[in-house]
Amino acid sequence: MAARVLFSAPGEHWPLWRPHLLAAFAEEGLDEVALTDDPAGPWTFDYLVYRPGGPVADFTPFTRLKAVLSLWAGVEGIVGDRTLTVPLCRMVDDGLTRGMAEWVAAHVLRYHVGTDAHVLGQDGVWRGGVLPPLAAERTVAVLGLGEIGRVVAATLAGLGFDVRGWSRRPQALAGIATASGPEGLEAVLRAAEIVVLLLTATPGTETVLNARSLAMLPEGARIINPGRGSLIDDTALLDALDRGHVAHATLDVFRQEPLPPEHPYWAHPRVTVTPHVAAETRPETASAAIARNIARGEAGEPFLNVVDRTAGY
Ligand code: NDP
Ligand code: OXD
Repeated sequence: MAARVLFSAPGEHWPLWRPHLLAAFAEEGLDEVALTDDPAGPWTFDYLVYRPGGPVADFTPFTRLKAVLSLWAGVEGIVGDRTLTVPLCRMVDDGLTRGMAEWVAAHVLRYHVGTDAHVLGQDGVWRGGVLPPLAAERTVAVLGLGEIGRVVAATLAGLGFDVRGWSRRPQALAGIATASGPEGLEAVLRAAEIVVLLLTATPGTETVLNARSLAMLPEGARIINPGRGSLIDDTALLDALDRGHVAHATLDVFRQEPLPPEHPYWAHPRVTVTPHVAAETRPETASAAIARNIARGEAGEPFLNVVDRTAGY
């Protein structure tokens, strides 16, 4: 019998993904595969394409599943789900990674060249003569050197920045000074004028930026968080922003999304809020990653990008 694939995501995603998934299935020779967004008959599905907010909240009735294929890179919402007992594969896709690298580069450059000084509040006064340092004189820390963080770090290094990277396990990257572990974090933060958070959300990364670690940053540092809201102690960050110790933060992800209208971040003069748009998974590129894993499953080959349940990512 041909494999059956359930697409579980908020309704508006189905028409966007369906044609690209079908094209990617055809490309992989999976023409027989049946794709639907109708969760009726959960015991009949072999694969579940998953994005938070869709109809599937309990994997128990999906007794035939071979794998759950996440449309998101971050899987903290389901990695601990005890009803999920088959391999969980997270999204690794060049379009997602490149999108993030472009978004981070834009926000780092905004801080670096002081874009706001000329874009906001034009008042007829000609204020020339203030030059930013060149990128080589600006230290940017990238916390998280995974599939996305590594490319972001390389992109920033390519622009000339002095990039320092931090991860759980030691790793060597060309042109980037790397560190790991708690002592490595302190060294990286003490040097960082701009900090980019690209860590996964796990118990080990919870409030990695807290009152103590924020105090390690040089006065006037900037923070860019496209990782996850749980990486930051919000009270500590608001306090550091109020004091000007952190000069500005660009926050894309939050503990509660959508960020409630009354949250102090919205109105804070030193915060830019973006609505979890740093890097959307694009059907045009990411469908191939889904199809490739289904083809591997059907061929009896190991899945790619399987989440390590013990590590939590
Ligand atoms: P990866 O799993 O490939 O990389 C995660 C990185 O975090 C690794 O470098 C890992 O270290 C590091 N890490 C995990 N735990 C710790 C720890 N306790 N201490 C230090 N480092 C740690 O993930 P991706 O690069 O694919 O994605 C990163 C995150 O970006 C996602 O989890 C998601 O939250 C976020 N994201 C946000 C998007 C948005 O639109 N805002 C879009 C896409 C992703 P090590 O290398 O040693 O394993
Ligand atoms: C992701 C995200 O994890 O969009 O892919 O946040």
